[in-house]
Amino acid sequence: MSTTITSETTQTINTDFLPLEGTDYVEFYVGNAKQAAHYYMSAFGFQALAYAGPETGVKDRASYAVRQHKLTFVLTTPLRADNPIADHIYKHGDGVKALSLRVPDATSAWKETTKRGARSFMEPVKMKDNDGELVMSGIHTYGDTVHLFIERKNYNGVFMPGYRAWSNPYFKPADTGLLYVDHCVGNVGWNQMNPWVKFYEDVMGFKNILSFDDEDISTEYSALMSKVMSSGNGFVKFPINEPAEGKKKSQVEEYLDFYNGEGCQHVALATNDIVKTVTELQSRGVEFLKVPTSYYDDLLDRVGHIDEDLGPLRELGILVDRDNEGYLLQLFSKPVEDRPTLFFEIIQRKGAKSFGKGNFKALFEAIEREQDARGNL
Ligand code: FE2
Repeated sequence: MSTTITSETTQTINTDFLPLEGTDYVEFYVGNAKQAAHYYMSAFGFQALAYAGPETGVKDRASYAVRQHKLTFVLTTPLRADNPIADHIYKHGDGVKALSLRVPDATSAWKETTKRGARSFMEPVKMKDNDGELVMSGIHTYGDTVHLFIERKNYNGVFMPGYRAWSNPYFKPADTGLLYVDHCVGNVGWNQMNPWVKFYEDVMGFKNILSFDDEDISTEYSALMSKVMSSGNGFVKFPINEPAEGKKKSQVEEYLDFYNGEGCQHVALATNDIVKTVTELQSRGVEFLKVPTSYYDDLLDRVGHIDEDLGPLRELGILVDRDNEGYLLQLFSKPVEDRPTLFFEIIQRKGAKSFGKGNFKALFEAIEREQDARGNL
């Protein structure tokens, strides 16, 4: 609710038609959910949380929910070929299907967004079990990606109806310090960034808080453009990228080719101790992009004083950037599938609210080296 004062009258305008409490979970459609769940547990430090499948009355799929602090991932796989989940995987490979958002009222969220032009993915459904009632609805966004609205204020179970608690007493991987979703980035097609910016403005009431043009995000060879969309309270941030013309192929184009369309490019996961988190992830086999060590030669001249020792940052390849409000540390994984599609960012914010503009060039040169090695530059 915000108040606008006009010269004639005092009017109260309800601008918060879609109050969001944050990311509820990220759901991935994958070829083998049992093994993917094991990867996120063993490599990323998630814990087993809940399972849904034939044993819980769900006939067409198996889903594993894993959790670390406020981060919940759901790995879902189809059990048969003739199935929209199977079609999704055939077309895109493993990837993000649902960026699910916690709302106080999933029925209102669906009505307000579809009324403003969103295409419905799922009308509001009340799901009940002995632990209460959960309401879910959903709308389409870019590509085959969807936003689910999750209302769980009357639900006390471990995850949601249809799931049962799941754990393995012999396998409790240590946590890696990953806390919550910082932002999720979408890659869209040529000239599609602004229409999707407008979608998030008109349909979801988001604001465009930052923009990067192809001058900001370009190397000698390739370029992209990006606009960051944020919910009013800043709890949910969705940057949108589109490719830009360069001498060679943009990384966004490579993504679009291999994902077979628009989709989620990366999910940024927050930590309070990036050195510890990245050390843990790396020791468990997560692979990261590397910038040349010369990046660190003049780092402190560029970003000023930072609390961290430079040695471990250099050794792990962690990047640093500063804005008016503070600084941030970040690092990007290599794609977590064989297709050059979805990857993860690990981010620690120390006041900064931006996205690491000062690192774009070094980062994209690192991505180009990988693209080149794949023959896709
Ligand atoms: Fe990011």
